[in-house]
Amino acid sequence: MQDQQRIVIIGAGPSGMAALRAFAAAEREGAPVPDIVCYEKQDDWGGQWNYSWRTGTDHYGEPVPSSMYRNLWSNGPKEALEFAEYTFDEHFGRPISSYPPREVLWDYIDGRASQSGVKEKVKFAHAVRWVQYNEQDDNFTVTVEDLRARKTHTEVVDHVIVSTGHFSFPNVPDFDGIGQFPGEVIHAHEFRGAERLAGKNVLLIGGSYSAEDIGVQAHKMGAAHVTMSYRSQPQGFAWPEGMEELPVIDHFEGNRVTFSNGVVREYDAVILCTGYLHHYPFLPDELSIDSPNNLYPAGLYRGVVWQNNPKVYYLGSQDQWFTFNMFDAQAWYVRDLVLGRAELPDAVARAESIDAWTARHDAITDDPEAVQFQADYIRDLIEATDYPMFDLDEVVRIFLAWKKDKKTNILTYRDQVYPSVMTGTMSTVHHTPWLEELDDSRERYLAEPAPVTN
Ligand SMILES: Cc1cc2nc3c(=O)[nH]c(=O)nc-3n(C[C@H](O)[C@H](O)[C@H](O)COP(=O)(O)OP(=O)(O)OC[C@H]3O[C@@H](n4cnc5c(N)ncnc54)[C@H](O)[C@@H]3O)c2cc1C
Ligand SMILES: NC(=O)c1ccc[n+]([C@@H]2O[C@H](COP(=O)([O-])OP(=O)(O)OC[C@H]3O[C@@H](n4cnc5c(N)ncnc54)[C@H](OP(=O)(O)O)[C@@H]3O)[C@@H](O)[C@H]2O)c1
Repeated sequence: MQDQQRIVIIGAGPSGMAALRAFAAAEREGAPVPDIVCYEKQDDWGGQWNYSWRTGTDHYGEPVPSSMYRNLWSNGPKEALEFAEYTFDEHFGRPISSYPPREVLWDYIDGRASQSGVKEKVKFAHAVRWVQYNEQDDNFTVTVEDLRARKTHTEVVDHVIVSTGHFSFPNVPDFDGIGQFPGEVIHAHEFRGAERLAGKNVLLIGGSYSAEDIGVQAHKMGAAHVTMSYRSQPQGFAWPEGMEELPVIDHFEGNRVTFSNGVVREYDAVILCTGYLHHYPFLPDELSIDSPNNLYPAGLYRGVVWQNNPKVYYLGSQDQWFTFNMFDAQAWYVRDLVLGRAELPDAVARAESIDAWTARHDAITDDPEAVQFQADYIRDLIEATDYPMFDLDEVVRIFLAWKKDKKTNILTYRDQVYPSVMTGTMSTVHHTPWLEELDDSRERYLAEPAPVTN
């Protein structure tokens, strides 16, 4: 490693926190590590998990990054995202359920990163405005704004780790006549809670996780009727009475919506659950991912190294079955490249690797293959690092069981429990079934035993 290397990590969500922890782990072992600064435009870390009631812009006038809502619970079993080197047992000191609410998961990632003592490396309320590659010096000039002081400065770094997430800039397609819809029209990015949907007829546009989860939240909070409109294929769950799936929208006329199969319905509120854009306003196009949301965005060697400039790395840019432990595997690998512990192949070999993984990605035909693909991708990274290997095939089995639970009952899958892949500890059944639990706080969640209050 060269002397005086400097790295910038952009964003302190779970991916950026993984990068900070990866370098801290090497430092603890006595390895010389570069000078690291992490810029996070929010006042705290946690990325999506750092809930904000605000929508649109925040108190600094910045676009609000988090798309999470007040009453969001994990939509996958926590056993699938557990850190291999910091277990739920270690953090909570006792077993908890498999599907914790947002605040509890924030607590877990905060606990892990705080234990590593890396918070001092993060400059909060600092937004990275621009990254410019300096060809002559093979380094980057980074322009940063201190949002509190309203001052910008530039600095020169040798490596750039982009960990700004890709679920913050909503994809907002147009629909014929929607501009005249008299009720509220928002994107899932702005959705903060379903209480005000009680008694309403709600239209969700989209056929993926946001439509499904906001749909069941609305149902839970007493919506009169929920329609989810799919473009490619229905989600196909056994929806409870009051929820349905219809195909793509033909047009709006006032509050009446006609679907492509001729069905007409009237609605009070519309929520676009149409996904998010890869959008990096601080990067020139030659350094920026331009991809749909998929498991192998184009242009990244091993899913992390920018092929056209291998001193730019992306963490967490894939669509996500795996999350926290995948970000760890990526961060450990990127760290090892930066430290010279792992060797970066030349451009031709990298291109061959990208082509091989892309071909495999393009051949995926169903969800089990997609989960297996991401598990194998993570295995490939961990094998190249000293991040603790864990039973990825067992995580795949948990994901497939989760999918089955959802098929069995979309309203009760969060009441199911799984054993930890890391420790073997069996999760406990939460004191209150998810459908009856109206208090999502950490305090209520950890209360034991707690009577149902309704
Ligand atoms: C609605 C929703 C629900 C989800 N639920 C789950 C779930 O239940 N389980 C699960 O495992 N995963 C879930 N996810 C996936 C989620 O993406 C990951 O868990 C995780 O938050 C991704 O981490 P990240 O660090 O890559 O990105 P993010 O969490 O998006 O963090 C990016 C960070 O970068 C910062 N940033 C952005 N631009 C700049 C800039 N220019 N300068 C400085 N800082 C910047 C942001 O402020 C933010 O803090 C959910 C995602 C969404 C959108
Ligand atoms: N914890 C939780 O409970 C929770 C809740 C919500 C979201 N999340 C997470 O948030 C992330 C994003 O999920 P997401 O559902 O927002 O995005 P997504 O998975 O990318 O899905 C986007 C959906 O929008 C549809 N779509 C896009 N453009 C459309 C158009 N013009 N007309 C009709 N439909 C259109 C897509 O249809 P096609 O299939 O046809 O492309 C797809 O169904 C995921 O990681 C998910 O796990 C988690």
